[in-house]
Amino acid sequence: MAEHRTQVAIIGAGPAGLLLGQLLHRAGIANVILERQDGAYVLNRIRAGVLEPITVDLLDAAGVGQRMHREGLVHTGIELCFGGARHRIDLHQSTGGKDVTIYGQTELTRDLMGARAAASLSTIYQAHDVALHDFDSATPSVSYTHDGQQHVLRCDFIAGCDGFHGVSRASVPQAALSVYEKVYPFGWLGVLSETPPVAHELIYTNHARGFALCSMRSNTRSRYYVQCSLQDKVEQWSDDAFWDELRARLDPATAEALITGPSIEKSIAPLRSFVAEPMRFGQLFLAGDAAHIVPPTGAKGLNLAASDVHYLSRAFIDYYLEKSNAGIRHYSEACLRRVWKAERFSWWFTSLTHHFPGQGAIDAKLQAAELDYLVHSDAARSVVAENYVGLPVDD
Ligand code: APR
Ligand code: PHB
Repeated sequence: MAEHRTQVAIIGAGPAGLLLGQLLHRAGIANVILERQDGAYVLNRIRAGVLEPITVDLLDAAGVGQRMHREGLVHTGIELCFGGARHRIDLHQSTGGKDVTIYGQTELTRDLMGARAAASLSTIYQAHDVALHDFDSATPSVSYTHDGQQHVLRCDFIAGCDGFHGVSRASVPQAALSVYEKVYPFGWLGVLSETPPVAHELIYTNHARGFALCSMRSNTRSRYYVQCSLQDKVEQWSDDAFWDELRARLDPATAEALITGPSIEKSIAPLRSFVAEPMRFGQLFLAGDAAHIVPPTGAKGLNLAASDVHYLSRAFIDYYLEKSNAGIRHYSEACLRRVWKAERFSWWFTSLTHHFPGQGAIDAKLQAAELDYLVHSDAARSVVAENYVGLPVDD
């Protein structure tokens, strides 16, 4: 058994773990990341890429913002499409100058991995049988196997950044956790294609056939989604069937303008709202998808992971540099206040824009009335805009 020691052991090399590692490193706090998969696998996961200003600031603070500023697309508005027409919500105008940056999670992960490698920080990919020990004591540790050898990593703190299916949350005694969950009765079928986006900004569409979203990764690469049945299998959806369905849900002018091409990725994702409370158990801290999941409407998943990491990096910096436990004590509460507001927004935006199986004619009318109200009331637009660009981290 090989023994190692660090200050913070981070489980998971997704955006949460990598960003935390980088922020800690810049503050002089030693950390090791244990990741079950290999680097290429982590980089091949396709996920949303809408960054709130807070996430952009954090990437800058981590020293990895250069390419994002060069290649990211700054969007000052989003569009809502319903009743056969598009309506713009001006984020800039409604929030006093805030916007979002479109930059794929794959690219962000690549930048964070590059910075970690350049600083020669320790990341153990293909770490198997990761197990957490003694996190209710002052001397926690993490055991794992790597290349067939057993290792133990002793540390002061464990950061559980290992996603929804990770080992960290699962290591907490069930009685210590309160779990809140809602699974939606539909999925999102997503297609990535090497085609120019149909519009300059994202279009969220409410249609009797179901929700649709026109998004993008760059000026030459598009990402589109249509709401689908949970029974659907991705193999049943040819590219042509996907494009036909998307066109059928868009307004006529947008459908006409859509440029289609072969899909380079196609997948179905379920939609879930999930929160596990609290987010700290002694010396173990959960961050990102390990603690909470939002449905993707509103693109909050990555941004919530980033705000958790903001609080967690500050808690560790307070502890090591200021000799204060305040950040550690308040971590869970500070995160959860923001998490629940993002959960609420994501649930609300999902409820407003999707077709629910079995919904009656009155539900569609109520959705239409709310959408109409939204795009014609300054107050309502401001509510959407301030949530879309992200609520502040510090109040
Ligand atoms: N041991 C080690 N690593 C693990 C284990 C384990 N037992 N279980 C999971 N992991 C790794 C996964 O392989 C993955 O690389 O933890 C990582 C978790 O990364 P994400 O799932 O991306 O979660 P997070 O970093 O919280 O990202 C949050 O980004 O990926 C999106 O949908 C996600 O938008 C959300 C945000
Ligand atoms: C995406 O581009 O994948 C995306 C964008 C916005 C969302 C969800 C997903 O709300």
